[in-house]
Order: sequence, then structure tokens, then C-alpha cells
Amino acid sequence: MKLTIASLILAATSVFAAPSGVKRDSSIQISDFRATSGASMHFVVTDSNYPDDTPTDCNLIWQYGESPNKNARCNNSQYYIRFPNGPIDLNRFTLELERVSGDVPEKGQVLLSSNANGEAPGTKWNCHKNEAGILFCSYDGVLEMQV
Ligand SMILES: *[C@@H]1O[C@H](CO)[C@@H](O)[C@H](O)[C@H]1NC(C)=O
Repeated sequence: MKLTIASLILAATSVFAAPSGVKRDSSIQISDFRATSGASMHFVVTDSNYPDDTPTDCNLIWQYGESPNKNARCNNSQYYIRFPNGPIDLNRFTLELERVSGDVPEKGQVLLSSNANGEAPGTKWNCHKNEAGILFCSYDGVLEMQV
């Protein structure tokens, strides 16, 4: 009898054991992406590896010309928002996102260029300055970030 129970528990354990190859998508989607040298930034992260806590809103407020708080995250608290190359010019900067926790580690970077220097003709990152000299930028469509 004891043996039977033991083998039943063993069998149950193997059924619930984690599969060896975790299914994983290699990109996340960034939508509704806009920013100003005001300095605020907004976007929405959608991540099919984490359907339970995304889409999530991401709102960054920082001092233009400085780096954001090291602990800056999206609203679900699961994505760090970073400028890996230091303080940014919204016309050309790299955005980094890193998943804080979960079974699928994710970290990615993407370069946003408004073509102010001619390097990115046809770019979807568009910037214009208003009369007060404040830059407004937005991304036309959905940006894929490899993670
Ligand atoms: C995300 O957080 C910001 C700042 O707390 C808040 O203003 C905004 O409404 C939140 N967005 C959502 C969708 O909850």
C-alpha cells in the first residue's frame, strides 16, 4: 500500500514537472510611444511571454539631460526603463527594457532616430520642436524590440 501511494506521488510529480523547453517569443511590442523634452515619455508594452501582466502602461518622468532613476519601471513594475548610453537627445537615443522577474528573462535595446543627422531616412520616430523649443516625438505604429 505504501509503495502504491509512493508511486502515485511520483507519477503526479512527473506530470507537473516543468517542460524542458519553455515556449518563448523573442520580441515584445512597444506601442503608443511618445516623448517630450519636457521631460516625459509614454509607451505601452505588450509581451506574449507574460499575458497576465501585459499590456502595461509605461510612464517615465525625468530630468532632460540627466539619466532616469535607476529603478524607473512600467506600471506593472515588471520592466526597467533605461537609457543605456546615458543622458539622451530625443532625436537619437537608445531605449533599453529589462524584465524584472519571471520564468523568461528578457532584455532588449532599440535605437530611435528621428533622422536629424540623415542616418535614418523613412524613420517612424518623428520629432518636431514647438515655438518654446520643446521637442515632441512619437513613433508611428508598433515598434518591435528583440529581447
Ligand atoms: C500608470 O501610472 C501612472 C503614474 O502613476 C498613471 O498616471 C497612469 O494612469 C497609470 N496607467 C494605467 C493604465 O494604470
